[in-house]
Amino acid sequence: MNLRKKLIAGNWKMNKTPADGAALVAELVATVGKLTDVDIVVCPPFVALESVGRALEGSTVKLGAQNLHPEASGAFTGEISAPMLRALFTTHVILGHSERRSLFGETDAFINLKVLAAMKNQLRPIFCVGESLAEREAGATLKVVQTQLEAGLEGVSKEQAAGLIVAYEPVWAIGTGKVATTDQAQEVHAFIRGLLTNLFTEPVAQRIRILYGGSMKPANAPELLAQKDIDGGLIGGASLEARSFVELVKAAVAAK
Ligand code: PGA
Repeated sequence: MNLRKKLIAGNWKMNKTPADGAALVAELVATVGKLTDVDIVVCPPFVALESVGRALEGSTVKLGAQNLHPEASGAFTGEISAPMLRALFTTHVILGHSERRSLFGETDAFINLKVLAAMKNQLRPIFCVGESLAEREAGATLKVVQTQLEAGLEGVSKEQAAGLIVAYEPVWAIGTGKVATTDQAQEVHAFIRGLLTNLFTEPVAQRIRILYGGSMKPANAPELLAQKDIDGGLIGGASLEARSFVELVKAAVAAK
């Protein structure tokens, strides 16, 4: 029996105003807003959290943020804390996305503080790991993923880990149209499951969803979602239009 409900999460990145985001979510709610056999999360920019949250009220679609600062409050100009996100009924948060790592210099240690802050505030991290093209070509994929995962999850307890979501996003596949082959993705997902087993025990690791991210589209989703350790998707480009996002949700329903 598969213990893991499939999860489709939309990472809107720096796209959509509060009004555009609410309009997109209204379409999602009308088509897939009552589904219970697959989990759906949308992650708009901070400024759209409130309007999007209102638009998905009464539906089963959940609200996620794309980042947070580890401190609860203080002199951190331009930052947003976990309690602030909770106040807007946010339940999930993307952490350690490769764009945060490469464009904004986030280290494993800093991401670890964010993961711990999210857990402490009952926000479920969608914790991202993945190798660059150069790292894959150098044969370092598993080593890179292991380092990111173990450093990012340091100090997370077994109990907290039950609420964790991991996303494997090969950097070379993000926004490029180059999707990992199902074998490439499944190999890393199984490896991650093994690492999670070592960290948190087998029963906990069997419950943690591991999403694939990187150019997931309606055309390639069914094959990816059919893999044993691929429990859903973290979707960038294809989450910005209702039609493609709904198709991905339907692919997850078919694969469950
Ligand atoms: P993509 O982005 O689907 O546009 O490749 C995925 C992500 O960065 O989370």
